[in-house]
Amino acid sequence: MKYVIISDIHANLEALEVAVSRIEIVQPDRIICLGDIVGYGASPNECTQIVRNLTDLVVAGNHDWGVVGKTDITYFNAYARHAVIWTNRNLTPANLEYLEKLPLVHVENGILRAVHATPDHPERWNYIFTYPQASKQFEAFTEGICFVGHSHQPVVFELSRDEITTINSESVKLKKAHRYIINVGSVGQPRDGDPRACLCVYDATSQEVKLERLQYDVESARQKILNAGLPSVLANRLLWGE
Ligand SMILES: [Fe+2]
Repeated sequence: MKYVIISDIHANLEALEVAVSRIEIVQPDRIICLGDIVGYGASPNECTQIVRNLTDLVVAGNHDWGVVGKTDITYFNAYARHAVIWTNRNLTPANLEYLEKLPLVHVENGILRAVHATPDHPERWNYIFTYPQASKQFEAFTEGICFVGHSHQPVVFELSRDEITTINSESVKLKKAHRYIINVGSVGQPRDGDPRACLCVYDATSQEVKLERLQYDVESARQKILNAGLPSVLANRLLWGE
């Protein structure tokens, strides 16, 4: 069984199209989307429609639920709030309804779990950056792997007995009797200093995980954000992957 897991598209059509092209080559059995389909970028309807056509295995991100009023956006920074309000005004009623109905969790019969933020309380939109944070989250699920997004920074947390290590590599071979929290990075707004789109390929047979980076037309995505009248910082950060 081969999976592709994508997250944090953030209405970046140019990045998503490149990811879809890669998915067509990989030909996975299943595609999972970890949410934040919209927010920040200028192509929310196009991206929502592509995800709807791509897979039924989609969980909600804080921006998806923020746009439909299902999560509090007062803690969002001013730029994110601006984008949430703009996105709400620009999405079609059908796409708003779709985002509103997205669940918070996807579980595959004891094999893997998929959430946007954290497995313990996915609705709180907390982050997993540190070992103590990861340790707490490993106690919150029983499957071998939990895929997460939200930080826009790809990383693999590996738990062996009671020791956690992080792996920052594009290719990771999963070990038997170990458990994993895998952050799949961001398709449409990477924040690890690498502006290329990120997606995760998980081969459950060979137990290989690849965090692939893909070049896309950053300048077109950036220009669309500026043309839409969204804050220029949201456009320019795409250039640096920050
Ligand atoms: Fe996000």
